This record gives sequence, C-alpha cells and structure tokens, in this order.
Amino acid sequence: MLKAEQNERLTRVGPGTAMGDFMRRFWVPFLAGTELEPDGAPQRVSLLGERLLAFRDTDGRVGLIDEFCPHRRASLFFGRNEECGIRCVYHGWKFDVEGRCLEVPSEPADSNLARKVRLTAYPVHEAGGLLWAWMGPAAERPAPPAFDWLGLPPEQCYFSQFVLNANWLQGMEGEFDSAHVSFLHRRLDMEVAKTSIVGEYFRNDTAPTWKIDPAPHGLVCAASRRTAENELYWRVTHFALPFYSMVAPEIGGCNSWRCWVPLDDENSWVVTVTYAPHRDITQAERDAWAAGHFAHPIVEPGSKRLAARAENDYLIDRAVQKTHSFTGIQGTRAQDAAMTESMGPITDRSREHLATSDQAIIAIRRLLLDSLACHGAGEAVPAMRSGDVYAVRSGSALLPDGVAYDQDKTLMREMGLAGAAEAAE
Ligand code: FES
Ligand SMILES: [Fe+2]
Repeated sequence: MLKAEQNERLTRVGPGTAMGDFMRRFWVPFLAGTELEPDGAPQRVSLLGERLLAFRDTDGRVGLIDEFCPHRRASLFFGRNEECGIRCVYHGWKFDVEGRCLEVPSEPADSNLARKVRLTAYPVHEAGGLLWAWMGPAAERPAPPAFDWLGLPPEQCYFSQFVLNANWLQGMEGEFDSAHVSFLHRRLDMEVAKTSIVGEYFRNDTAPTWKIDPAPHGLVCAASRRTAENELYWRVTHFALPFYSMVAPEIGGCNSWRCWVPLDDENSWVVTVTYAPHRDITQAERDAWAAGHFAHPIVEPGSKRLAARAENDYLIDRAVQKTHSFTGIQGTRAQDAAMTESMGPITDRSREHLATSDQAIIAIRRLLLDSLACHGAGEAVPAMRSGDVYAVRSGSALLPDGVAYDQDKTLMREMGLAGAAEAAE
C-alpha cells in the first residue's frame, strides 16, 4: 500500500513532475526505426506527456520535435517532409531535425525572424531497431544503455509492440508479480513442459519465495519454486531503471526484454524483444509469438492496439474458461492487459492489500521512491551515469535445495552478473 501522494509521485510523468524529471535523465525509446522513412510521413509521438512529432529527413537523420509550429501553433503532422526539413503547410515555415528554423517564406526577404525562432527538439539515438530520445539537460547526457541484445543480428531477435491503456507502472508491476503466472496464465487442457509458464512447476508451487537484491541497473528479483523432486526452480527477473523489465526465460528458452514507456500518465508503449543469445530464433518460435503465445501480443493489423481489449472484454470466452484456460482470454499479453487495465488508468494504491507474493513490487516502489529522493537532492543514481550497467540478462535454473541463484556461477555468468558474484566472495 502506498500513500496517495506517493502514488501520484510514482505515476505522473509530465514535465515538472518528480518522476517525469527523473525519467528525463535516461534515454527513452519512443518508436521503431522502421516507422520513419526518409522524406516519408512524420509520426505523432506522445512521450512523457509531451506531444511531439518524429520525422526522418532526406539524409536519414531523425528529428523529434514539438508537434506544433511556433508560428501559430498548427500541427506539423500535416507538414511536408522534404529537402532536409519539415515545412508547415499553413504558412510554409520550415524546420530541421534540430529544431532550427530554416525558412520563413511568409516574411519579407530581409527578415531575421528565422534566426530567432526555435522548436523544442530532442537528440535521437538509433540502436537495435529502436529510436531513443534524450529529453534531459544536454550536459547530463550519458552513453545510451548497453542492453546485450542490441548487438545481436536480426535472426536472433523477435520484436513486437503494443499500447497499454494504463499507467506505465501498473503495467510494469505485473512483470514482477511472479505468483500470477500460476493462475492467470494457467492452461487446463494440455500437457506442457514443466518449466513453461503454464506448466507443472508453476502448478506445483503457487507461492514462490523471493530473493531480491540491489544492483547498479536496479534490482535482481529472483523467485524460487519447490519442485516435486524437492529442487528449487529459480526464475531471475531484472528491473532496470527507470521502466525496463527482463523476465526470466523458461530453462533453455529465449530471453526477453521489455520497456514500459509512458506515452502520458494513462497510456504506455510496450515493446518486447525476445532474443536467443546463442542461436537463431526458430521459425516455430516466430510463428508461436506471432499467434500471441507467451511473450507477444496480438494487435489489430497496422496498429498498436491489442485485438483483445477493454471495449470487447478481451474477447473472453466463458466456454473456453471452463475447459481450456483459466481466463478464457487468448494470449498472455491480453490476459495481463485485462488485469492491469481493469484497475483503471491509474490504480489507487492506497486501497491495495499487498501480500508476501508482492515483495518484488514493494521493492521496486521503494527503489523508485528512493531514486526520486536521491535525484531531488541533486545526486545521480548509478544507472543515470553508465550505459554499461544495463548489460545484464535474465535467467532461470533448477538448483539443489538450499542453493540460491547467486551461488550458481554458471547462471550468474550467463546473466552478466559474474563480476558481482566474484566480488561478493
Ligand atoms: S502556423 Fe506554421 S507556418 Fe504558420
Ligand atoms: Fe503475466
């Protein structure tokens, strides 16, 4: 449970808010690079409560600028993207990717107005097929985060995106609530691998035990379940500041990375990258994800809207709910969204009754509140300063009773945490 003012502090992201100011000290992903073509259609971008416009100029450079023309505030969405700039179609003023005004053709030839006018423009970095914005002070710009999948070839990655109609924290907290997997995503009708999120290990122990450790990128949240053979099935999920989750893979399965980017206070852009660090992704895996299994959503063609969403009750099928799945809703992303969106756009956390299974959620809230206090006092948290702290990946393992995840060197090495383990010895 949080106090109402703590809830406000964590969830509001507009300019001038505590969380908004904090998030503007990190690179923020905002669009897939393929959504912009040189001299192609610009895209409206809502980001941390700001209305922006993204376009790729003739030379391939990406601009992320104020959506509204500084002349009389018409939307530049209708603009002409041509000859290294975007031209407002109202009176022809033209701007480049850095927000400089290049021409004011509606003014006398000797006018110096162009030199005086400037648009808000945020620097953009392109990596891993995503566009990342720096919305903070120029002097504090760090190296972009060095997530390990950014260096992998496309054959080893699978990408999807959707918009969640709920606050970013609400969506993200669902990733750290390991207990829900045993219920919300349960299948009633099929024999599946033991470690699958719909499988035996999750049914065998529905009350996982948490071990939560601080790390430079945020938190390592490890949940262990006791198996029928009295071993421990560890699932190690990372929270990385400010809005990233890396959920534990099934044993031998693919890793996943997800960002919960606040478009505004009540909507979030969710990108999932599933990747195999040591092999290509198989066609069978791609087909399953495209069909909405496990990590990826089913969206309406050509849109970022979930096909199963609030207005159609997530296409719940009560007959399927009796015989095939716990929810009667198809696809894990839609199942998650049905729960997190049903709380309302910003849930009232002062009315919750958190339980033992919510320890990771509590730890994340505490870390975020502490980080806001730290930033408010003029200090930086480590993740603000170094892109390298992000070079970690989630993991899972079956270990003997009594052995914690961080005592297993193979697992720690695989997760990029071997240095931490050796330093602790
Ligand atoms: S409003 Fe854009 S040029 Fe006048
Ligand atoms: Fe889930």
